[in-house]
Amino acid sequence: MQEPLRLGIAGLGVAATLVLPGVERYENARIVAAADPRRNALDAFREKYGGRTYENVEELCADPDVDVIWIATPNQFHKRHAIMVAEHGKHVICTKPMALTVEECEAMCAAAERNGVKLLCGQTYSMSPDVTAMWDVVKSGELGRLIAINSWMYTDWLLKPRVAEEIDESLGGGVVYRHAPHLVDTVRLLGGGKVRSVRATVGRWMPERPSPGNFSAYLEFDDGTPATIVYNGYGYFDTSELTWDIGNRMYSSEERVAVRKALRSGAIDHEVAKEGMRFGAGAQDATSQGSAAAQPRSAGTRAHINWFGLTVASFERGDVRQSPNGVYVYGDEGRREVPVYGGRGNGTLEMKEMFEALYEGKPIKHDGRWALATLEVCNAIVRSGDERREIMLTRQ
Ligand SMILES: NC(=O)c1ccc[n+]([C@@H]2O[C@H](COP(=O)([O-])OP(=O)(O)OC[C@H]3O[C@@H](n4cnc5c(N)ncnc54)[C@H](O)[C@@H]3O)[C@@H](O)[C@H]2O)c1
Repeated sequence: MQEPLRLGIAGLGVAATLVLPGVERYENARIVAAADPRRNALDAFREKYGGRTYENVEELCADPDVDVIWIATPNQFHKRHAIMVAEHGKHVICTKPMALTVEECEAMCAAAERNGVKLLCGQTYSMSPDVTAMWDVVKSGELGRLIAINSWMYTDWLLKPRVAEEIDESLGGGVVYRHAPHLVDTVRLLGGGKVRSVRATVGRWMPERPSPGNFSAYLEFDDGTPATIVYNGYGYFDTSELTWDIGNRMYSSEERVAVRKALRSGAIDHEVAKEGMRFGAGAQDATSQGSAAAQPRSAGTRAHINWFGLTVASFERGDVRQSPNGVYVYGDEGRREVPVYGGRGNGTLEMKEMFEALYEGKPIKHDGRWALATLEVCNAIVRSGDERREIMLTRQ
C-alpha cells in the first residue's frame, strides 16, 4: 500500500485555516511541516500537528521528509514560492489565484515541467461536488447541447478584515484576483475550458476599500457558448438569500451594518482583525469547530453544502442549478434532484487529486496550464474594463 503524502504548507494564514482541516480528513495525506515568518503560527502548528516548522519557505523546501508543498502565501509570492518548491523536486499545490500574470504562470509551469514535478492549482469552488454534479449533466448529454452558463455571486468580501496587499491591485488585491477564479474556473469547467473572448466592466466603488469590488463579464467559449459571471463584494444583497441561505458569507445582515459603520469611521484595525482569523490566533481551532468567525456561513442543517453564488447551466432541453441537497435537473419531464454528498472538500479534494495523479496515473484537471488559462480570463476582465472593448484570448 502506498504511504500517505507528506504535506508541508507555506503560509499559515486564513487560507491555511480553511485547507488544513480538509487535508486532515483525507486518509492518504499527513500534515508534517509548515513555513511562516509568524512565530505564533509556527508555535500553534507544532502544538496542533507536532510537525516541523520553518521561518521561510526555502527551509521548508529543503526538508527531505516533505513530498508536496501547498502554497498559501500572499498572491505576489506564488510565482517565487512555486518555482522554489519545484526546483527542490517537490510537488506543488498552489492556492488561487495561480499568480498575477500569465507570464508568471508560464514560468511556474515551466519550472514544474523542468523538474518533473506535479503542479496543481486548487482551492476554487469549481472542485466542489455541486459543480461536479452539474458537469456530469453536461457530459451526459441528456439535456442536449449546452447553450449558456450564468453565474451570480453577491457577498461581503469587501467588509471582511483586509490587509493592504488584499486591496492593492498591483499585489493581486481586489475581487478579480481573489474571487473571480472561483467563477471563471466553474464556468470554464462546465463550458469546456476554452474561452475565446471576454468583455467586462470592473467597479471600484467603495472609498474605504479602493480596490475592484464588483465586475460583470461576458465570456464566449470557442464553440460560441456564452457565459456571464457577475460578482459584487460590497455586502448589501447576498446571493444566499436566493439559495436557501446556503452560500459563502461571513457576516449576518446585522453584523454587516455594524462593520460598514466601523469601516467608514476608521474604527477597524485591519491588521489586528485579519490576524485574528489566521492560524495561530485561535482560528485553527475555531475553524475545525465550524466557527462563523473563520468559516463561510452555511445553513446549519445543510452544512455539507457550501456554494459560491448561484450558477445555472442551460441546455437545448433543460437547465441545471444547485438545489438544497445537490443539483436540480430541469427537463421535458419536469424537475428532479440529484443529491450530492460531502462538503466543498477544501483541502481534501486537492490532496486526493494529487495522490491519484502520483500513484494512479490520473491526470490533474486543475493543473498549471488550466489555471494559467483561468488567470488569462481574470486579467482580461480588468483589461476589458479599462479599455472598454472585447479582449481576445490566446492562452486557452
Ligand atoms: N482568505 C481566504 O479565505 C482564502 C481562501 C482561499 C484562498 N486564499 C488565498 O490564500 C492566499 C493567502 O491568503 P490569506 O487570506 O490566507 O492571507 P493571510 O495574510 O491570512 O496569510 C498569508 C500567510 O502567509 C504568511 N507569509 C507572508 N509572507 C510569507 C513568506 N515570504 N513566506 C512564508 N509565509 C509568508 C503570512 O505570515 C500569513 O500567515 C492568497 O493567495 C489567497 O488568495 C485565501
